[in-house]
Amino acid sequence: IRENKQQTSLWVAEYIVHRINAFKPSKDRPFVLGLPTGSSPELVYANLVKFYKNGRVSFKHVVTFNMDEYVGIPTSHPQSYHSFMFKHLFQHVDIPPSQIHIPSLENYQQYDDLIAKYGGIELFLCGVGSDGHIAFNEPGSSLSSKTRIKTLTKETIMANARFFDGNIEAVPKSAITVGVKTVIDAREVVLIADGRGKAEAVRQALEGSISHMWTVTALQMHPKFVMAVDEAATEEL
Ligand code: GLP
Repeated sequence: IRENKQQTSLWVAEYIVHRINAFKPSKDRPFVLGLPTGSSPELVYANLVKFYKNGRVSFKHVVTFNMDEYVGIPTSHPQSYHSFMFKHLFQHVDIPPSQIHIPSLENYQQYDDLIAKYGGIELFLCGVGSDGHIAFNEPGSSLSSKTRIKTLTKETIMANARFFDGNIEAVPKSAITVGVKTVIDAREVVLIADGRGKAEAVRQALEGSISHMWTVTALQMHPKFVMAVDEAATEEL
């Protein structure tokens, strides 16, 4: 728990850098990093870019798998998760483009197999929706789900309208998402959440019963699950 979003994000970025640097990559076994989008990780990415620029970390031996992407808008759309990732991280660091994976209609059926081919995800960074969803695993998603297409709930569409000039009609109605099982299969999961709006999701994640209505609760079963939150997000604990 850190006082505010700035400090929580800095802690997470330092943690990821530490993990990447402690890992001994080989040609067959790079550091495989699962990544989210959204406002929660924005400052983590800004810090990772800063650490790359001052020589503290390199992404040359890092392979990334993003957790989700909208269906129905082109990758070039400014609000696609593809655009988000290039804007906030990929275009600023030394990751080779061939090592970047973002789910799409073309690759999603092979996505989990591809992750497995790289030896599985070392660290999955996650945000959480205020209704407790991880990636786009909306309430009711199977806890054993893998990468697939999901219809978004009204709550998620409304929450994400802020990225589409507040226009609910412009928000895609479905998305491709890794499954709950895809996230749980990572060797380590780090969840970042900030603000009062996430307090109930944080409470469910730590104190709720494991339930597909709050998919974040599945992480309670994970042997290496780290939550990085600011004080406001702990208000319901
Ligand atoms: C979206 C994303 C999630 C993200 C969540 C919270 O629905 N699919 O991956 O964790 O929103 O977003 P934010 O970090 O903007 O609050």
